[in-house]
Amino acid sequence: MPDTPTFAVIPGGQVQDTLRGKEKLVVDLVARTYQVHGAGDSVNPPSYFLRFPDRPSSRIIALPASIGGDVQVDGLKWISSFPENVQAGLPRASAVLILNDPATGYPFACLESSIISACRTAASAALAADVLSRDRGRPARVGFVGTGLIARYIHQFLAGTGWSFDQLGVFDLSADSAAGFRGYLESAGTTGEITVHDSAESLIRGSDLVVFATVSGEPHVHDPAWFEHNPLVLHVSLRDLSPEIILASTNVVDDVEHCLKANTSPHLAEQRTGNRDFLDGTLAQVMSGEVTVPADRPVVFSPFGLGVLDLAVGKYVYDEITRDGGLNVVEDFFHELRRYG
Ligand SMILES: NC(=O)c1ccc[n+]([C@@H]2O[C@H](COP(=O)([O-])OP(=O)(O)OC[C@H]3O[C@@H](n4cnc5c(N)ncnc54)[C@H](O)[C@@H]3O)[C@@H](O)[C@H]2O)c1
Repeated sequence: MPDTPTFAVIPGGQVQDTLRGKEKLVVDLVARTYQVHGAGDSVNPPSYFLRFPDRPSSRIIALPASIGGDVQVDGLKWISSFPENVQAGLPRASAVLILNDPATGYPFACLESSIISACRTAASAALAADVLSRDRGRPARVGFVGTGLIARYIHQFLAGTGWSFDQLGVFDLSADSAAGFRGYLESAGTTGEITVHDSAESLIRGSDLVVFATVSGEPHVHDPAWFEHNPLVLHVSLRDLSPEIILASTNVVDDVEHCLKANTSPHLAEQRTGNRDFLDGTLAQVMSGEVTVPADRPVVFSPFGLGVLDLAVGKYVYDEITRDGGLNVVEDFFHELRRYG
């Protein structure tokens, strides 16, 4: 007789306690997951976008995935984005992650996943900042365009993996968000000089590492001249840059098929040119040395966000909580287990 399947629920507090102070570990985990995915030991179909005709700014995305390597888990991230939440004092995104046993298919855990999602996104950005600046010099001036929760996590992961900056630029359409982020930077013990910019242009021109974490649905930055100092751009929000800027840059993505969808800026560039020649490769290919990154052009990293990353981080959280004896198992969750009663 196989063991009776169990089902655990892991709340956000347990997730946060497990991941606190583990920035380096999560970045290493994300790097290994990109390598496993790049080597083909994963299944990561296109994300499914549920949209609503009566609520066009909102969406819920399903990211089913399966990861091999030394993680070995299947599952689904189900993440909603309701930008109007922010005005009401709630975070934009909320999420759960379901982990399934690859031997039986049984789901064995449901985790609060907005924290896992923010951590894996920030870890991917910090990894890209490191990998893509190795042959170009390490940026000392960072600028954040869009300063919500994801920007905060990206700064936390950069700081937690050894980055420090002489200058930190902040730009947001909302003065409250810019002020809130500035307050966060000060409370995080930032030593560099913090400047709140009044335009994306002055921030971009004054930064060697530019982070986009807006909720813009279409390009709002159009002029390639703003990038003539060849910054490294972490284009986490995916839809900020015009095709002209993408075409004038070295372009690195997490996964080509994923990233060239859903009207991301690289997708718009593909529609404009009718080809993918402007793509230089994936982050895994840069990590393996197969693709090199020149210093005489801007470099844009556009990560679509892969479900395999959520699975890897979620399984780590599950394993750690299990090891510590803190797992909340829901008794009798799978109740109908005998075929004939
Ligand atoms: N690629 C990935 O893997 C991944 C993962 C998670 C989140 N994201 C993306 O990150 C982005 C940020 O998420 P968040 O949770 O921090 O959102 P948020 O709502 O907390 O913050 C977004 C901020 O962007 C600002 N903003 C909007 N348009 C702007 C513009 N044109 N210029 C400057 N600022 C602007 C808003 O005022 C707001 O303060 C979202 O687009 C989300 O989809 C990407």
